[in-house]
Amino acid sequence: MTIEWRADDRQFHLHNGLVSLVLRVYEDGSLGHLHLGGALPPGRAYRQLGPDPFDGFSNRVGDPIPFAYPTPGIGDFRVPALVAAGADGATALSLRYHDHRISAGKPSLDPLPSTYVEADAEAETLEVTLADGQTGLQVDVRFTIFEGRPLIARSATIRAAGTQSVDLRTAMSLAMDLPDADWVMVGLAGAWARETHVVERAVVPGRQSATSIRGASGAQHNPFLALRRPTTDEARGEAYAFSLVYSGNFLAEAEVGAFGTTRVRLGIEPETFSWHLDPGAAFTTPEAIVVYSDTGLGGLSDALHGLFRDRLARGTWRDRPRPILINNWEATYFDFDADRLVEMAASARALGVELFVLDDGWFGARDGDTTSLGDWVVDRRKLPDGLEGVARRIMALGMGFGLWIEPEMVSPDSHLYRAHPDWAIGIPGRARTETRQQLVLDMGRPEVVDHLADVLIDVLASAPISYVKWDMNRNITEPYGLELPPERQGEFFHRYILGVYELYRRLTTRFPEILFESCASGGGRLDPGMLAFAPQAWTSDDTDAIERLRIQWGTSLAYPLSSMGAHVSAVPNHQTGRVTPLSTRAAVAYFGVFGYELDPTALTAAERDEVAEQVAFYARHRDVFQRGRFVRLESPFSGDRDRVSWMALAPDGATAIVGVYRILNRPTPETHRVRLRGLDPEAVYRVSGWPAGDDPMVVANTGPRTGAELMAAGLRLDRDRHYAATLGDFWARLFVLERVETDEA
Ligand code: DGJ
Repeated sequence: MTIEWRADDRQFHLHNGLVSLVLRVYEDGSLGHLHLGGALPPGRAYRQLGPDPFDGFSNRVGDPIPFAYPTPGIGDFRVPALVAAGADGATALSLRYHDHRISAGKPSLDPLPSTYVEADAEAETLEVTLADGQTGLQVDVRFTIFEGRPLIARSATIRAAGTQSVDLRTAMSLAMDLPDADWVMVGLAGAWARETHVVERAVVPGRQSATSIRGASGAQHNPFLALRRPTTDEARGEAYAFSLVYSGNFLAEAEVGAFGTTRVRLGIEPETFSWHLDPGAAFTTPEAIVVYSDTGLGGLSDALHGLFRDRLARGTWRDRPRPILINNWEATYFDFDADRLVEMAASARALGVELFVLDDGWFGARDGDTTSLGDWVVDRRKLPDGLEGVARRIMALGMGFGLWIEPEMVSPDSHLYRAHPDWAIGIPGRARTETRQQLVLDMGRPEVVDHLADVLIDVLASAPISYVKWDMNRNITEPYGLELPPERQGEFFHRYILGVYELYRRLTTRFPEILFESCASGGGRLDPGMLAFAPQAWTSDDTDAIERLRIQWGTSLAYPLSSMGAHVSAVPNHQTGRVTPLSTRAAVAYFGVFGYELDPTALTAAERDEVAEQVAFYARHRDVFQRGRFVRLESPFSGDRDRVSWMALAPDGATAIVGVYRILNRPTPETHRVRLRGLDPEAVYRVSGWPAGDDPMVVANTGPRTGAELMAAGLRLDRDRHYAATLGDFWARLFVLERVETDEA
């Protein structure tokens, strides 16, 4: 991996054998983007990939010139990366090469979360400074290439380097031109309890986007966008992924221009953003990641999973096996006391569960969702011996103890609100919109973050707490910073999220042994920014196994299994009313960070046996499920849609586990082969089925098989019509593949 600067050709080439990025300083000094894609040989000039000598736009206004950081008003009529108004209010900018630096490693973007390296040899970074003569604006455009990863990390720092102040109106993390428009745009869209559904559309002339203006990345769109060729599938073909390391308002957009080129933009959502720079002040954008794959969407996911799991997540829990937990939310909601919690914990412990999580309702007088957010004082009516009392009783059972908090919120009916009504976000003179009877604290104010850090540090130090679920259950309305002058109100949303990051930073630094899980009514803020602080997230409030097939499939496009909380809950399911077999619920939840969200004391004896076996199975294969390579096989979003399959391969390749799911059963079923991927074709695997038993589908596949057979011919899931008639809907089977030395094993 290296970054090459060829002064004679005015060309930068970042390459690592997997991906190449070629930039060129055009004749007029602007920075061109000639190529980001498959690896190109180093030591060569690539001027031919860009426009003919480019001296500016005279006589060629509107031409599809590829720029690395495009600006408006000078002849490029596509969407810009940067819009800034100088002292005269004009927004045209001509950014010209000023100088550049190449350095080993990767600089931190602190206070923003970003990917990192553990040794300088892992990456190299190019920073090109561009300058606009009229406004004095300077932009450091940053590109990092990593050893062994087919991706580039980008960010920009924009500085009012002259004597005038500058107002930023758009400051994208990335803009990137692709030379054609033969792309299908892949996004992750949804709603509460229906997050990260895969949506695809062929790009068309004009702009198509995913976005949020709600103050959080949101369940509606994820800050992720992929472009794939129409023929690209999970395993083959070209594709790009664009992912933003950010948790606030964002825009991910593809614009097809008049000449059939595609410009992708990724960054902070511009309509809800502005930033005032006094002379000398600077603004740094969040980090954007671009992945290039010629091995389909699977290749994109492999690269993002590795990066996010190993070089975005950090801290003690990054590499540690995650505990199997039970959460009391769906079992009790707000109605519990210490004895009831301990009774449930004891019952779960007997089944092998390792961590008990006390959810909402332990503080203030919170018997429902109308009160007490902000009053982080234990409710002694429910927990007479405090958090410490209940935590110690649960620990005595041999379990860890975890706690739910929702730091960013305040109930109007709370001591905190009565003491500091002005800390709740709102516009003076305008009624505040309430959702779930709660308001949002202005995290952009340092005194709010200081207060929350003090109070929550006390809470977390008051008991042996080993896990925290940080929830966030509403979005921001009436956005306004009471302490910001009118010309800085556009900074409100970004300052808010910087405050959230600051609080996360303080709590995770003070309690490095605590495992943090982020949550926003489920996956309402499941993004790379959060992953930098909390290595796992509550993927969705929807615990229905069938809905989870879609949600986990979609989430896995960008996020590793180690980041996806997935629990078995009771039936009828609380979100859909659906009744699914207990084995199916586990077979889906296994592919993530596993747990339970039910009352274990309500299980029948047979169910208890089944759960104990489930827990033991997950514990035995934890490494495969949490750190394995996830391979998507049959999608719930295409084809038959009723049959779904995926697999995880252990990091050492010795074990693989395949999940096969049927949503609606069908009479006289078609033959069905599931062809696997990622195995060693030469190796022999002993195949066994789960649940164990004499199920014909399991029996048909049990025994030694070569990797070649499993990939070329597949598992055989044929069902004759009599057998099919017994299966019902929503069934699942797992197949465990263990590599063995010989055929006889
Ligand atoms: C929303 C979360 O997603 C749930 O799991 C639960 O923690 C509730 N909030 C508690 O209010």
